[in-house]
Amino acid sequence: MVSSRLTVPRAVLAAALVFGVAACGSDSGGGAAPPGPAALDGVGPISLVTGKDTSGNLQNQVDEWNSAHPDQKVTVIELPEDADAQRQQMVQNAQTGSATYGVLNLDVVWTAEFAANQWITQLPDAEFPLDKLLPETVETGKYFKHLYAVPITSDGGLLYYRKDLLDAAGLKPPTTWAEMAQDCAKVLPSNPGVSCYAGQFEKYEGLTVNFSEAVNSAGGSVVGDDGKPTLNTDGARKGLQFLVDGVKSGEIPQKARTFKEEEGRRAFQAGELLFHRQWPYQYAKASATDGSSTVAGKFAVAPLPGLDGPGASSLGGHNYAISAFTKNKKTALEFIKYSASEDQQRKNLEKTSQAPTWAGLYDDQALVAKFPYLTVLKKSIENARKRPAVVKYQEVSQAIQDAAYAAMSGATPVDQALQSLQGKLETLTK
Ligand code: GLC
Repeated sequence: MVSSRLTVPRAVLAAALVFGVAACGSDSGGGAAPPGPAALDGVGPISLVTGKDTSGNLQNQVDEWNSAHPDQKVTVIELPEDADAQRQQMVQNAQTGSATYGVLNLDVVWTAEFAANQWITQLPDAEFPLDKLLPETVETGKYFKHLYAVPITSDGGLLYYRKDLLDAAGLKPPTTWAEMAQDCAKVLPSNPGVSCYAGQFEKYEGLTVNFSEAVNSAGGSVVGDDGKPTLNTDGARKGLQFLVDGVKSGEIPQKARTFKEEEGRRAFQAGELLFHRQWPYQYAKASATDGSSTVAGKFAVAPLPGLDGPGASSLGGHNYAISAFTKNKKTALEFIKYSASEDQQRKNLEKTSQAPTWAGLYDDQALVAKFPYLTVLKKSIENARKRPAVVKYQEVSQAIQDAAYAAMSGATPVDQALQSLQGKLETLTK
């Protein structure tokens, strides 16, 4: 074990934290270890700071907690929908040392940055049922092998497809990009108003996710096992080319270049897409029979397609952490335990179709019968690739977004975009 009670100045700690290998889930290789867990005391009201709750169930969970804990009420502070904008507000708040934010709902890619800067508190492993959670999700909450954030929802990309339209044409869901294009060529002419394919292509974290998936699904990777960028490879080229060709051919409609999760979801629910790369939360929303979805009962999900066979998702998800500056840390700890409990995970799955982190729920036969997508989802998460677990993650992501966006808009040729991205990431990972 690395020494755990050292007080390491922030600058030293941040400087010791290099790309990939030395960050989440790994030892520092003799580098500076983070300080040990702080005392988690203080009981009373707290806030839960989160991106916009597109699932619709968060307030129910909080209300249930609040009625059982009237002296430790949780107030939800909702930030924007866009992951980058959420991070920016959380970082700004932490930089002022404000006590307003209590529990932070962190994207899985932010653990390293928040832990290295000591904006969040190290957590005691023994307080949480970590052995019951999907191991890959637990890893995302660790930094230098220490727990800083507890998985609350996971996320794996799925290919939502219009089963009614494929069935009518006698087609099965595609496993490769070429099959997907062929299916579109067969189905779209008789279905005006339906476009072929969309994902999250606006210039934000979602584009980093979709670019990484395209590269992974063509046999490439964004960074290698040593944490060094690998964008000067054939796999990376073919991955980005898939996105660029999609825009050029119109298989990816122009409109989709402005899609984040919610814009795409609305388009799919309006019946405007044959295929949609999306997270599991869309399943419940698109199945709604209250008139908000025109595709309820008409769609299904399959693994993401790839160049030569099934592709690989980026691992998404959210973890709860405790702000280093909040007073009521004991309440924050108890609220995280409550949110990570099997009972809450099950209820949330039933109400929202978000991916639980409690492993056993994926094999619960009653749940699988009710939510058939669970089997595909579990595979998606198990095979998902992590985005780089680095302190400077935002700069890495920004560079990826710039390169992918420029190539997809036709402004920069694929080779040039990748070459420049490779250079930028080499600098960021030195
Ligand atoms: C989802 C994922 C998250 C990802 C984001 C990108 O919220 O859970 O990990 O970064 O989408 O838009």
